[in-house]
Amino acid sequence: MASENVGAFYIETDRLKLFPAQPKFSKDINGLVLDSFDTLHPWMSFAQHRPTVDETEGFFKMVYENFLDKKGFHMAVFLKSENKFIGMVSADERNCPVEPIEGTIPYDVGYWLHKCYTGRGYASEAARGLIKYIQEEMKVDLFSICCLEKNVASSKVAENLNFRYISTSDLPLAHKRSDWPVRVLCKVYILDLK
Ligand SMILES: CC(C)(COP(=O)(O)OP(=O)(O)OC[C@H]1O[C@@H](n2cnc3c(N)ncnc32)[C@H](O)[C@@H]1OP(=O)(O)O)[C@@H](O)C(=O)NCCC(=O)NCCS
Repeated sequence: MASENVGAFYIETDRLKLFPAQPKFSKDINGLVLDSFDTLHPWMSFAQHRPTVDETEGFFKMVYENFLDKKGFHMAVFLKSENKFIGMVSADERNCPVEPIEGTIPYDVGYWLHKCYTGRGYASEAARGLIKYIQEEMKVDLFSICCLEKNVASSKVAENLNFRYISTSDLPLAHKRSDWPVRVLCKVYILDLK
């Protein structure tokens, strides 16, 4: 997809543009998920089965409304040098599996990339850009990352972003997939920018 067609608002980093996920991106992003299903399936709660374009579109309708209401930020990650989408990054307080900290619910940060684009720092760069935007625009200064205990790459992204490891605990029921075991452990990281 050519960059001039993707949308007016975006957050820009050195190598990436982050566009709010919206229905017109459904086919592109759904294609990335299907291509990378084998690497997403072990870790992502949304990747229990291969989604249809309609399912992706339904999800994007919801998250785009949340974006317009400034209630959540699900962004499609666009690689400038190749003029194409390569994954997603998000931050959403209603997704947070962490208890409020001193009365504040952190914005929970999530990310995934097409399998051909990992290992080049794109996830860290995208998450850093989104966190900076939310901190400046929304005056939010508390963020969390929750990843499955064995997800080394995701833990590494949290550490690259200066998140502090706080605990390993049971993944809350709302975040658990029906095909996962009864007990699933997740590592919780916090970034407090206060
Ligand atoms: C997690 C994910 C987004 C990371 O993307 P990425 O662009 O490769 O991340 P970065 O390049 O910013 O950083 C990854 C770091 O993890 C390291 N890493 C990656 N896989 C690793 C592994 N299996 N073991 C150890 N370290 C690993 C990389 O070397 C890199 O470390 P560095 O920054 O010290 O060089 C990507 O692997 C992915 O899409 N995974 C599937 C979906 C997923 O797990 N999402 C997170 C859910 S919580």
